[in-house]
Amino acid sequence: MPAPVSTAVRIDEQDIRRLPKAEVHVHLEGTFALAELLRLAKENGVRLPGPAATIFDVSTHDAFTMPEVTTGGTAHGVGNAGLSGFLRFLDWQCGLVRTAEQAARVAYSFAARQTASGIRYSDVIVNPTHWNAWQGREMALMEALAAGLDEAEQDGLCVTNIAYSLLRAQSAAEADDVVAALAGHRPSRVVALSIDGDEKASGRTGEKFRDAFRAAEAAGFHRTVHAGESSGPEGVWDALDLLHAERIDHGVRSIEDPALVQRLIDDAVPLGVCPRSNVTLGLYADWAAHPLPRLVEAGVRVTLNTDDPAPLATTLDADWAVAAAVYGYGHEELAGFAAESITASFANDDLKRDLLAELAAVTAGAVAAGVGVPDAGVAPAPVFEPDPERVP
Ligand code: ADE
Ligand code: ZN
Repeated sequence: MPAPVSTAVRIDEQDIRRLPKAEVHVHLEGTFALAELLRLAKENGVRLPGPAATIFDVSTHDAFTMPEVTTGGTAHGVGNAGLSGFLRFLDWQCGLVRTAEQAARVAYSFAARQTASGIRYSDVIVNPTHWNAWQGREMALMEALAAGLDEAEQDGLCVTNIAYSLLRAQSAAEADDVVAALAGHRPSRVVALSIDGDEKASGRTGEKFRDAFRAAEAAGFHRTVHAGESSGPEGVWDALDLLHAERIDHGVRSIEDPALVQRLIDDAVPLGVCPRSNVTLGLYADWAAHPLPRLVEAGVRVTLNTDDPAPLATTLDADWAVAAAVYGYGHEELAGFAAESITASFANDDLKRDLLAELAAVTAGAVAAGVGVPDAGVAPAPVFEPDPERVP
């Protein structure tokens, strides 16, 4: 993707929503709308940890105050509790989902929320350790979520597959058991093994999870790994060398190691970058300080995602609009992000091909209409053409 051509770019969220796109780094646990949370709490007779109006302001609730070791914790709002405090909030919230109907409902709502941002396909991360009513029944949770996603697709909402996520703090034996269960049950819509959680609190865990990820690979599951957020470049090296990650969730701290940047380029490994999440959790001071544009300019495959949009009070189209405004991206660059999101996703090849073709058609129409073209004096952005090497 070329460097931005201008900082004066006319592009708004309406135009962004029209771009067919995928989201590849979003946690189902981070997508519960406030109304859904209140409804779940009421259905289960559970008291809120604080006023409804500030429920997502995690640091204001005593239950989620900052532990001694956590990533971030220097920003305001959600971020003040640090990543570990935030993950405990997710435990509380997902603990409200107790029946198969409730699980299907949150999955369906997720697909509706994604569709509203112009997202046509999602790889959604689900970490069952947050869903405490389902401990020991994780495969049943997967089936309940799949039922909601099936209904969503039948209703014309976006297609979603699941990346089943381990938590960093789990043991090697637990991870092995998870993979054995996935390989045995083959729950519908589960296409990948993932790992998330706070690496700063857990330490280096590549070796611990090596066997589980190798077994997942042998069983035909994709692999996506959180690294280079709560860990430095060493976490990304481990994800590549030990876990055979096909995609890195975050990965932004790779910028600190030129050899690693080169490795990502050489192996064409995409990053699932989430600038708002990183800024909110205190990794970077603001969007301007975020390494996203430097990674793009270096030639790393970058996708632009939300991570946990509900508690971060955002949507994907809103965050793409911020990226356009802060980094000077025009329609060509945003179409490039849309193409990268589709090719980097774990969607099947037919869907990828269809979405890329649709994207090319939308982009050609938008350029003809002058949408998102830099201001006078700068040449119009060329039409996005799918890269033949990446089109399945
Ligand atoms: N789970 C949900 N959001 C996460 C993040 N930003 N990092 C690690 N694990 C997560
Ligand atoms: Zn994440």
